[in-house]
Amino acid sequence: MQKNILVTGGAGYVGSHVIVSLLERGYGAVSVDNFRNASPEVYGRLRELSGKDFAAAGADACDAEAMARVMRTHDIGAVIHCAGYKSVPESIQKPLEYYENNLGSTIALCKAMRETGVTRLVFSSSATVYGESKVLPYTEEHPTGNCASPYGMSKVMNERILTDAAAAYPGWGVVLLRYFNPIGAHPSGRIGDAPGGVPGNIMPYLLKVATGKLPVLPITGGDYDTPDGTGLRDYLHICDLAEGHVAALQYLETFTGTETVNLGTGRATSVREIVRAMEKAIGKPLPTEIKPRRPGDIAEMRADPAKAKRLLGWEARRSLDEMCADSWRWASRNPAG
Ligand code: UFG
Repeated sequence: MQKNILVTGGAGYVGSHVIVSLLERGYGAVSVDNFRNASPEVYGRLRELSGKDFAAAGADACDAEAMARVMRTHDIGAVIHCAGYKSVPESIQKPLEYYENNLGSTIALCKAMRETGVTRLVFSSSATVYGESKVLPYTEEHPTGNCASPYGMSKVMNERILTDAAAAYPGWGVVLLRYFNPIGAHPSGRIGDAPGGVPGNIMPYLLKVATGKLPVLPITGGDYDTPDGTGLRDYLHICDLAEGHVAALQYLETFTGTETVNLGTGRATSVREIVRAMEKAIGKPLPTEIKPRRPGDIAEMRADPAKAKRLLGWEARRSLDEMCADSWRWASRNPAG
């Protein structure tokens, strides 16, 4: 019988969509979430929309003994580590909390894996690990480590911790997935991104403007050296991203060592283009105003997704219009998030 996959942060935006993909592909899933940034209601919705059951443990991923218990109890075959604090500005205000939580959970999971003989792990990393490049697109060989925020540095450090662990412990296999800009939601409209407070990222902000909770989208920088002056990013559908994790798990069936893989579409979209695509999905204009650039922002980020295709057989399939339509379905049906 196939072993179960432990998903940390399984009630969160990425983790919940990963669980759907796992269940769809016939895996057993076990979620661990402390609900610090997610709601337990997500689990009921996941069961409804997938028509399948999975186990949930209310433990903290930073607790190595609790993680070892979960791994033993549920016969875990691999870990997908999505749990973590993820706000760039908050990480600048609370660096110690960010390092403690984001590094502490990785170390605890590795200890629990060593203790219980689990040897496979997929990690939620981010394109934020790359320093600014004059050469586009970003390949996995691009230098990392020059991050402006503790959030970004916690991803860099986690990549290093996992690389060192995979080198030290025989038979370990680790895939570091560097996400570009995940947006969208499951097409059922039942799960999606639900950040608290004033959103920092563009899609949750646009959704608050679309639902009338915020009056206008600030376009943070209209004078970049890009075709329309606004920032270019590689947005990818959260369901494509989730499927990338299943592809990484399959790769780990035979791979030992560490591999780093970009998850992106390879296409860049400007702020103005994403606003237009959202207006099409919603059917009404969205007010915007040009504001100063955010400190640390760069003109363009775009993945070279060739390695994901070559190694994992994965490529993003869903269009920008689908990303916007699915985001809108989620936001309009769940005004409270
Ligand atoms: N933007 C606006 N207005 C806003 C918010 C964003 O115009 O209110 C613009 C930004 O200037 C940028 C684009 O929209 O050009 C995307 O910004 P996001 O904040 O949505 O995304 P980032 O590219 O800054 O950061 C995201 C994630 C990080 C991750 C990074 C990797 O938030 O966690 O991608 O590249 F590390």
